[in-house]
This record gives sequence, structure tokens and C-alpha cells, in this order.
Amino acid sequence: MSFISSEKIPNNVNLSSDRKLQRALEEWQPNFLDWWMEMGPDGFQKDQIYLRTAVSVDEGGWANFGYVRMPEYRWGIFLTPAEANRTIHFGDNIGAPAWNEVPGEYRKELRRIIVTQADTEPASVEQQRRLGYTAPSLYDLRNLFQVNVEEGRHLWAMVYLLHSFFGKDGREEAEDLLKRRSGNPDSPRILEAFNKPMEDWLSFFCFTMFTDRDGKYQLGALAESAFDPLARSTRFMLTEEAHHLFVGETGVGRIIERTAQLMKKDPNEDARAQGGIPLDLIQRYINYWYSTSLDLFGGEDSSNAATYFSQGLKGRFGESSDKRYPNHREIDTIYELEAPVEGGARLEKQAIPTRRAMNAVLRDSYTQDCQRAVDRWNKILQDNGVKVEIRLPSQRFNREIGLYADLPIDPAGNLISREAFNAQKASWLPSEADRQFLKSLMNKPVHEPGKFANWIAPPKRGIENLPVDFEYVRFEPR
Ligand SMILES: [Fe+2]
Ligand SMILES: [Fe+2]
Repeated sequence: MSFISSEKIPNNVNLSSDRKLQRALEEWQPNFLDWWMEMGPDGFQKDQIYLRTAVSVDEGGWANFGYVRMPEYRWGIFLTPAEANRTIHFGDNIGAPAWNEVPGEYRKELRRIIVTQADTEPASVEQQRRLGYTAPSLYDLRNLFQVNVEEGRHLWAMVYLLHSFFGKDGREEAEDLLKRRSGNPDSPRILEAFNKPMEDWLSFFCFTMFTDRDGKYQLGALAESAFDPLARSTRFMLTEEAHHLFVGETGVGRIIERTAQLMKKDPNEDARAQGGIPLDLIQRYINYWYSTSLDLFGGEDSSNAATYFSQGLKGRFGESSDKRYPNHREIDTIYELEAPVEGGARLEKQAIPTRRAMNAVLRDSYTQDCQRAVDRWNKILQDNGVKVEIRLPSQRFNREIGLYADLPIDPAGNLISREAFNAQKASWLPSEADRQFLKSLMNKPVHEPGKFANWIAPPKRGIENLPVDFEYVRFEPR
């Protein structure tokens, strides 16, 4: 596939050979653009952004860089190439051929899985739509928009599956994806983390660090699916997702680095007095976004999860590795955790059949990955001579879904009294005062190439080996 494609919708699924599907998607396209103009990034649609565009799945083809106005971005449909004779490699049907069509008996489940994943893509664009006004640099502004257009492409990837494999109800679901709105009480997005407002850049970086990382694990689990088109779509989405996670991890890391520098500058080690973001506030935002993202994995003990695994719809992260998972059936094996008993009076060790605990298993892989990032952040603090450390709270803390929902559990994972919890809540989770402080700190954008807001350190290097002071966004005269 050439870079300059004459096709309306760039793709590697041979769209032109299926006139009906092509027409359906070409009808959906203007509705997508209407949605983008209404709910996509507010205020920067005419500017030239230095973006990467996927134009093919070949090496190099998925990352073409150049200046683009966002509404002219070429959202395409790309699947990683099919593997010959792929077979199902986990659950009850190991060894059977993977599916190229949706089996009737799993249609409902697969549609639900795809719609739920799809819904998160436009939702995050909606959540982030006003952040451009307070970007700490052109580099960061560009990264925000890169994430936004790629979430748009991920929506395309899922809509392609709905249109090609789910007939009329798939087309209806595709329309509904453009109708729901993040945070709208009447037609909210499906998952709660995607209805939370995002008004400042610390939240944006925490979101791309923690919530997009949930996306990585969900996509990774679906990349194992017996439904081959879903596996191939999500596999390709993961290549783009890596950048979103990079934006999040390094974004939080750069804030921490700057905070450490400002602490060293201040006679009382007070970053706030030097116009930075204090570490305790950063910790509260990490506590909030990490715990909110944990909920996205679903309940610890889940019959849906067991069904998805046994039927081969959704595996574990890296399921195809025998080293990681010597047992791809998990019959009669157990998963242990501390569960609340006696109406939440205390926690006690309990065993759940592994298949029913697949959400928890996936969540554990995620937690390990988050811990690796936290270790890097702590290295930054250490290198700058700061003795305080960032900590991931317990998986049990601040949960709204699953075994620990609404229980008074402290960040260390201990069940405490409701009174003790409420008394300390403001030191564990963001408060209105924190939000107001960030708002006042981030009240104007930085638009000069190479300049950064005082509360964040510059990145080590620019995008695509370009200098940090490259003009990542070219503004149209206002
Ligand atoms: Fe995405
Ligand atoms: Fe993402």
C-alpha cells in the first residue's frame, strides 16, 4: 500500500473488494468527522500538527511523520497480517482452528467485548478535549493530539469489526459509539473511568500512564483471541498504544524530576513555593488513577471472565508464551487472594478457580508493569537527592468494582474503620483544593518552541530524533 492512497479509507483489509462493507464504512465516515469536530480537541483543528500516521503494517509503514491538520488525518483500518493455520491456544478448544467468522454461539459475548473496548477510544478523546489550552509545551501539545488521533483510529479498527462481522446490530452499535458522551448523565460512556473529567495535565499523564495501560492489557488479552480478526486488529493497536504509555510514564516522570529539582532549590524543600507540584499531591493523583484503572479489569471472581477464557475469546497477557503460562487450560487450578468476610469485617485468604479469577490474573500483570514505572520514578527522585518515594497503593484501595468495592481500606491494603478512612481520605485522594491548585498552576499554555512550563522538566529527546525545540505545532494565525 502506497502512502498517498486514493482510497477514502486507507486499509489493508482489501476494502475495495467488498462494496457493501465499503459503502457502510463510507457512510459512517462523515458521522465520525462530525463527532470529531464536535467532541475532538477543542480549538486546534486548523493548526498543523507534526503527527505520525499509520499507512500500512509494514516496518516503517505504520509510522509516517509529517504536518497534518487533525480533521485531515487519515484514519485507516489495519490488521497485522494473518498467520497461516493459526489455532486456538488456550481454554477448552486448544488445537482447533482459529475463527475467521464469528461463531453464532459466541456472537453476543464477542460483540459485547468489542463494543466495550471501542467505547473507550472516543471517550478518552472527549475527556481530553480541552487540555490543549493549557499545554506545558509544543512537544506535549503534539503528544496529546497524537494520542487523540490514534484513539480515533482505534475506534475505526473496532467499527470495522462491528460492520464486517455483526450485520445490522453491528452497524447500530457503530452509530451508538458516536452518540454516547463522556460524563453525560443521560448517555454516558460504558466504563466509569472514561466518564471522569480530565481538567489538568497531571490527570492526563496519570491517565495515559494508568488507564491507557489498562488498555494495553485488555488489547493484549484480546490479541490472543480465537476470533482472528479481533486478534489481528488489537495486535496492531498495541504498536500505537506503546506511545500513549510512553507519554504517560515520561510525563509523570518529568513532573517528578522537576519537583525534585524545585525541592532542592527551596530552603524548606517546598516544591509548591517554587511553582512546582508537591510530591504528596502527585502521590494522591497516582492513588486515584491507579485504583480507578484497576476497576476497569472487572471483578476478581467473575463467571464472564471464566467463560471468555474457556471459550477462547480472551486470553491472558502473553498467553501464547508457554514460559509465562505453562498451563493454558487452568482446569482445577486455583488463584488465592485476601477476600472480605463477615460483611466486610475482616479479610481472609480465599481460593478462586483460576478461570473465574482471570480478571485478577490480568490485573496482576498490569500491577507489575505499573510497579516497574514507579521504580523508575523513584530512581529519578533518588538521583536528585530526594528521600521520599512514590508508592503504588494496594490493589484493594479505593475500589468501586469487585470484592473490595466501597470498603474502607487504606493504601497499604488494611481494612480500617469507616471513620478512620474518612478522616484520612484527603491525604490519600485528590481534593478540591488539589484540583484548584493545579488549575491555577496550569492556567496558561507554553507555545514557544523548546520552552516548558515551570512545573515540568523537558524530555530527554524529541519526537523521532528531532530536537526538543522543534516546532511540533505550527499555529494558523488566530
Ligand atoms: Fe486506544
Ligand atoms: Fe491509548
